[in-house]
Amino acid sequence: MSMSKDFEGWLSSSKLPAIIRHFGTPFHIYDEAGIIKTGEKLKKLFSGVSAEFQEFFAVKANPNLEILKIIKRLGFGFDCSSEPELFLARSVGATANEIMFCSNNTSSGEFEAANKFGGCILNLDDIAMVPKVPIFPETICFRYNPGKRRTGNSIIGNPVEAKYGVTHEQIINAYSMARDRGAKKFGLHTMVCSNQIDYLYVIKTVKMLLKVVNMVSNKLNIKFEFINMGGGIGIPYKPDDKPFNISALAKEAKKLLDQFEKKHGYAPMFFMESGRYITGPHGVLVTKVINTMDKYKKFVGVDVSCISSMMRPAIYYPEGGYHHISVFGKDKGPFETVNIVGSACENSDQFGRDRELPKISEGDIILVHDTGAHCYGMASNYNGRLRPQELMLREDGSVERIRRAERLADYLRTFSFKKLNV
Ligand SMILES: Cc1ncc(COP(=O)(O)O)c(C=O)c1O
Repeated sequence: MSMSKDFEGWLSSSKLPAIIRHFGTPFHIYDEAGIIKTGEKLKKLFSGVSAEFQEFFAVKANPNLEILKIIKRLGFGFDCSSEPELFLARSVGATANEIMFCSNNTSSGEFEAANKFGGCILNLDDIAMVPKVPIFPETICFRYNPGKRRTGNSIIGNPVEAKYGVTHEQIINAYSMARDRGAKKFGLHTMVCSNQIDYLYVIKTVKMLLKVVNMVSNKLNIKFEFINMGGGIGIPYKPDDKPFNISALAKEAKKLLDQFEKKHGYAPMFFMESGRYITGPHGVLVTKVINTMDKYKKFVGVDVSCISSMMRPAIYYPEGGYHHISVFGKDKGPFETVNIVGSACENSDQFGRDRELPKISEGDIILVHDTGAHCYGMASNYNGRLRPQELMLREDGSVERIRRAERLADYLRTFSFKKLNV
């Protein structure tokens, strides 16, 4: 899935300068129609995979309330990893069965928050959490870490090294302990890879989940309500990346669940927690060039820092974190090779390195593509840099500001002094 042709056309039309004049730069802008279209496509493809399909959108991918309202209207649930994310999901009306609480290294306060307002589906990340859940729910899920049985990638890490999940050796005991605490319904979750663009890898994950379900069922004589393949469906960040073959994944997953049903007389429901696939391509960071600088390399400085608007290029470089960059109104030469940088005092604060772009001047508008997921949500105030505003291009063509830019007062709001003499 890439940005839609309509959004691409809008971004290169005279509408963008009008929006810039009105709202100023920098901003992330999201394409409502594109998000809806992708969500509907996912629903259509996966609705036949099992008796019931449910997508739990990973709130961390884009925690803007207006985005979450769109997700709710699509009929999706929410994968939450913290108390504020639970708050956001509940704010848009998510009910207990529409929230998967997928935290890790969970505190007792988080378990309490998860249990409020009718609770949610608890997805436990460690066997040590079983005795710590204050009120054990009827339905419980565990995050499985296959260890040496699978390879991960640079974002999520090698499973053997990763901090996530219950190990293969612990998994039967985990369900047994949960059953002893009163659980009656069971789910199995995993997430072994992130931004994976090969659907065959994800199919292996579905196969692996069904194998573990089989193993635990045989040992403990329990049935599984659902398997949850997590997120991790990739998008083509680079122009020559191939798009993920989502219909092949749906087809193959259905085959696997049908085979399971033939053998066992039932099949678990199929859940996923996509974030990036749904919103990633439908966002763009719009920023203005404020300096062009000649050092040992040519640097183009823009009016927002990479760290305060989208950390991905800073933290995943050099293996990942690539975002395509274009220049508004310029697609012809002469070209030059430049690094597009922000203002933070960190050399990793670079949106793109050694990019061949049409010659850039001060005042030009730079578009950083695919910022609809894991961008604003990851941004930081490091260096006293303030996060930008977020806009939404609505389906009806209007543009709405859905989050204002941070101000100095926001940066200072947590300074409250309490003196203690001991
Ligand atoms: C538990 C869990 N589920 C889902 C996701 C969403 O991943 P993606 O946006 O790559 O689909 C993440 C992302 O890190 C995650 O940690």
